[in-house]
Order: sequence, then structure tokens, then C-alpha cells
Amino acid sequence: MSPDPIAEGVLMVDAGTTQNFSSLLRENRVFAPNAEFAAKAHVKSEAEYEAMYRKSVEEPEAFWGEAAGELEWFEPWETVLEGTFPEPKWFVGGKLNLSHNCVDRHALGARRDAVALLWEGEPGEIRKITYGELLVEVQKFANVLKGLGVQRGDRVAIYMGMCPELAIALLACARIGAIHSVVFGGFAAHAISDRVNDSGCVVVLTQDTSHRRGSEIRLKAIVDEAMEKCSTVRNVVVFQRSGSPVNMVPGRDLWWHEEIAKASATCEPEWMDAEDPLFILYTSGTTGKPKGLVHTTGGYSVGTYLTTKYVFDLRDEDVYWCTADIGWITGHSYVVYGPLQCGATVLLYEGAPNWPENDRFWKIVDAHKVSVFYTAPTAIRAFIKWGDQYVKGHSLDSLRLLGTVGEPINPEAWMWFYQEIGKERCPIVDTYWQTETGMHMIAPVPGAVATKPGSATKPFFGVVAEVVTKEGELVPLGQGGLLVVRKPWPAMARTIYGDHARFVEAYFSEVPGSYFAGDGARRDEDGYFWLMGRVDDVINVSGHRLGTMEIESALVAHAKVAEAAVVGRPDEMKGQAIAAFVTLEEGNEPSEALKQELRQWVAKEIGALARPDDLRFTQMLPKTRSGKIMRRLLRELATTGTVSGDTTTLEDFGVLAKLKDGEE
Ligand code: WT7
Repeated sequence: MSPDPIAEGVLMVDAGTTQNFSSLLRENRVFAPNAEFAAKAHVKSEAEYEAMYRKSVEEPEAFWGEAAGELEWFEPWETVLEGTFPEPKWFVGGKLNLSHNCVDRHALGARRDAVALLWEGEPGEIRKITYGELLVEVQKFANVLKGLGVQRGDRVAIYMGMCPELAIALLACARIGAIHSVVFGGFAAHAISDRVNDSGCVVVLTQDTSHRRGSEIRLKAIVDEAMEKCSTVRNVVVFQRSGSPVNMVPGRDLWWHEEIAKASATCEPEWMDAEDPLFILYTSGTTGKPKGLVHTTGGYSVGTYLTTKYVFDLRDEDVYWCTADIGWITGHSYVVYGPLQCGATVLLYEGAPNWPENDRFWKIVDAHKVSVFYTAPTAIRAFIKWGDQYVKGHSLDSLRLLGTVGEPINPEAWMWFYQEIGKERCPIVDTYWQTETGMHMIAPVPGAVATKPGSATKPFFGVVAEVVTKEGELVPLGQGGLLVVRKPWPAMARTIYGDHARFVEAYFSEVPGSYFAGDGARRDEDGYFWLMGRVDDVINVSGHRLGTMEIESALVAHAKVAEAAVVGRPDEMKGQAIAAFVTLEEGNEPSEALKQELRQWVAKEIGALARPDDLRFTQMLPKTRSGKIMRRLLRELATTGTVSGDTTTLEDFGVLAKLKDGEE
């Protein structure tokens, strides 16, 4: 990453997220932990949190060693932490299996008959799978994979909807040491083939269709399209969710139910080295190609286990619901691996929050007595917009803790969540973290840390977070700067698949000696962190991260497009919306039809969530003398409709006037 985007991006913190930033600056409400909650919590007071935090950073090996000791290891580690950024190794010499810690440990213990997965389909079906049953299912499917020749270290792509089989697929891969690469079910065929090819997946797991807002998403058909470009894939295993007709390619495609019917129900877990890769998950960065972040077994297990235990204060009697799709890191860490390691009852819901009515989530909370509810600010803003009438009439009295993730939450949305959903009884944990970090980094330990609406509060145990300048110097309290992490933490990604140099460059070169992954933040007088948004060319649309370059590449791939620049602008519902500026190839005229065609094209190339909200045609893009697109200007233009900033390096001033006129 060159230093430029950062310098430019720091400005973006002001320009791009002004609304958020100014409201956060005014925010001074503090909510002390509720006494009843604290009395039963794992950590009961601020003093206890402080003491634990101090130990965790002063003696990280003792702290994390103790945490790891709460899980089962086939062989103990020799060293808790070896080396440091950018190549730390955790629990060196230790051997374990994450599926064993998620399933066997409970199935063979007191939680055998407790429900592990509680699923509700969008049309309303309900399935409950106990830990004992889950152990059987995971072993059977692990044997199916083995039967297809999948070996330890092989890559398996997963493109499914939210159903128990998706969780089973992850756990089965983990059991045999295959590296899963989940592709979010909302991504398009291209996104699947790019990811499958990048890591050379040998098997793809999918399902016939999935239900969303009353219609069926034809996942298998999308996989078929993707497979035209994937030569490494030997087999596609298809879970039959709806029974809708699909095309089965002889010799390549197999039915999930037919295969498990033949599979043995015993499959000993592989003894994985702590540093063996567990999964790859792609995320957008500042360059065109998504990065395949690699997470490893030992550190990731311990990090997700401990954060789930403390941040969600999880207990056996909880019914835990994280509304994220398993296709994102939130789903990996806090739908599957964290809560199952804790032995929780995990609710999975297949469909949309507004199907058949806008109160579906609250119906689910009451029907299944959900006690911990974790969702995204963008969803909360949608609930607010839909109106309180959809909340009223549902008791919601099973809830005891609420959480948010994905983007900074505006204090107004926080207050609504606190009052209308939590009835001023439930603490809210605003959890800041990333695909790269694997686990929560800044989040309150409820019961111990007072919350402030809009702040992710304090670092989790063992996390040394600071706000600094580009030179790595501490920024005074109250001022914005770059959020960095100074010391390794167990669940951090270890590399980018196939490109370690890019990993080092992307995360460890910007601020000397520290991990920096693109966020601006400030700290207040109490040491609380206030996230201020991305300072690079990554935008956050409804809590989903998109690289502007990725969308630009997709636009330019269209025959009629010459050049494209994409920026984020604040959006009340989505956090950020996508604004695209496009120049056309000679001989093409701007038109409303072409605008719609290009928006649709991006949706088809990447997925619906990348579809530009605004698309403007222009004759030229504003550039610096060195030829760099001046995104800052475009951002300002997309946000306010005008440009006031410094334009002295703009190559062609005329461009600006033309853009301003909204030449379309
Ligand atoms: C980016 C990571 C890991 C969760 C899902 C997104 C933003 C995430 C918060 C929060 C403010 C947040 C950051 C971060 N972000 N959570 N609680 N407060 N910002 O994962 O796709 O890897 O995106 O999401 O900008 O860098 P991701």
C-alpha cells in the first residue's frame, strides 16, 4: 500500500463519515453495567476486568496458556507464543482439532442432549440437532469428503445458504484437516470461480436452492456457471434443501443425502498442528483482487472461544443468535466456531428479516427464547425505519444481552436498540474486529465495562490497541488517528493464501512494527475507542466490506466502459453507499438504459451487494498530474454535490465543472 491512500483517506474520515463523526463527538452518555447482569457475569466488575486485562498484556503467555487450557488438546503446546509480527506462532507444538472442541467435547460430556443447532427455515420449518446428533452428522460427512479423496491440506469450497448442513460442512472439513473456503451465497458465479481457482479447491459443496424473501436462490445453478472456469474441482456435492430441479453433471455431481447414507458414522479427528491452516476467507482490500486470508487452528480456536465466552458472557442455558451469514467472518467465528466451542445452543435462520413481515426476527426471538442477540447496525437502522409497531406485541423478555458488529453504530441506533429491543435491561456489546483479526478486538466485557453509545469501548484481553500517527507515534486523546495493534493475538490471520509478501505489505508496512488494517479511530479521556471508518479505499456497505478497485475492475470489464472510479458516500441505511463515475468508450452515449445495464452488470460480476447506488457518466475523471484519480474530490462530490477542497493538483480543472453539472 502506498502512503498516499492513507493521507488521502484521513481526509476521508472527515469527508466520508462526517455525519457519524460529529454525532459521536457529542455523545457523552454512559451506561454502567446493570447490577443483576453483573452479579451472574463471568467478569463481575471493572476492577476485575482491569486486573485481567493487565495480566493479559503483561504476561500474555500465562494468560493465553490458561485460556487454551480450557479446551482439549491431543498434545500440549511447548511454547505459547514464538516470534512476533508479521509471523507470530501460537501454541507451538500443540495438537488439537477444532471439530473435536466444538462437538465431541460436548457430545461426550454433559451437553450431549443439549441442542447445538436450532434451525428455522424461511418458510417456517424447524430442526433441532443435539450435540450428540451433530457428532454423528459431522463424522458421516467427514467420511464423505474422505471418500472423495479429500486429504488433509486440500481446499474445499462451500457455497451454501444458512442451514445446519453448512455448519456441518465446516466442521467436517476441520475434522479431516481440509481447508474450507466459504463463498458467501450472495456472491455471483465469477466470485466463486475466482476464489476456487485462487486456492485450487478440489471439491465444492452447495445446495439446490435457498430461500430468501419468498423466492428461491438457485445456488447449484450458479455453481454450474462458475464451474465452467474451474479445472481443479473434481466433485460437487449438493445438499437437497428444497427439492427444486437441478442439473446434476454425471461423474462430477453427487447428492449429499445419498453419500451420507453410505458413510460410516465414525471418523477420528485429525491431530492438527496448532499452526496448520483451518480455513481461507476472502475479503476485499485496496487492490482489485480479493485477499484469501488464512486462519490457523490453535490460535483461532482459543481466540474465538475466549471472546465468545467473555464478550457474550455465554452460559449453557443461553440460546444464542448471531444473524450474520456463515459466509462472512462473523459467521465463521460467532455462528459456528466460538459458540459451539462454548457448548451453546446456536440459532440459525435461513432467510430475510422482513419475510413474510417486518417482525420476523422478533417472532423468532420469542418463539425460541433467544437470550443473546448479535446483529449489524444496518439491520437496526432498517428496524427503526420499519417502525416500532413491528416490535410491539413481541415480549422479547428472553433477551439478556445484545451485540452489534460490522460498522460504527450511530448513537441514535444504539439507543433505539437499547430501549426498544433490550428494554434498558440488556447490555449492548459493540464489537470491533475484522476478517483479518479472526476475533473481537475492541469490545466491552459486559457486566464489567460501562458502555457509551457508538463506542466499541475497550480492547479485549491481550489486545494492545493504540491510536497513532503514520510514524507510529501516539496521538493525543480525543484526536483521530490510525488504529493499530502493537502485539500479536492468537486468532490473527497468518498470511494471504499464495502471497505472503502481500500480507506483510498490506498489514505491517504502513505503521512500523504494528498491525494496521485500515481504520481510523480516536480515544476519549476514559480510554474508550471510537471507530471513525476506513481510511483506505475500502468501503463498508451494510457492514460488508467492498474494495472500490474491485467494483472499478468489474465496470471496466464491460465493453462500453473506458474508465471508472468508485467511492463511498454516507448513507442513512447502509452506512455507506456506492457511487460510481464512469467514462465511456468512443462511440457510446450515456443513457438511463446503459446506467441500469452497468449497475446490473456489477451485480452479475460480483454480487448484488456491490451494485452501485449512484452511477454518473462523465467525459473525464479528475486526476492529479501523476495520473491518480482524485477520489477525495469524487467522494465530496458524491456526498455533497459540490467540491470545496484543494484542487491544485487537478490535471484538468474543466473536468470538475463537468462532473459538478452531473453530466449524465
Ligand atoms: C471492517 C472489517 C468483523 C466483522 C464484520 C466485518 C468495520 C467492523 C465494527 C465496529 C466500527 C467496525 C471496520 C473494519 N467494523 N466492526 N464494531 N465498529 N467499525 O468484517 O468485512 O472484515 O470488515 O468493518 O471498518 O475494518 P470485515
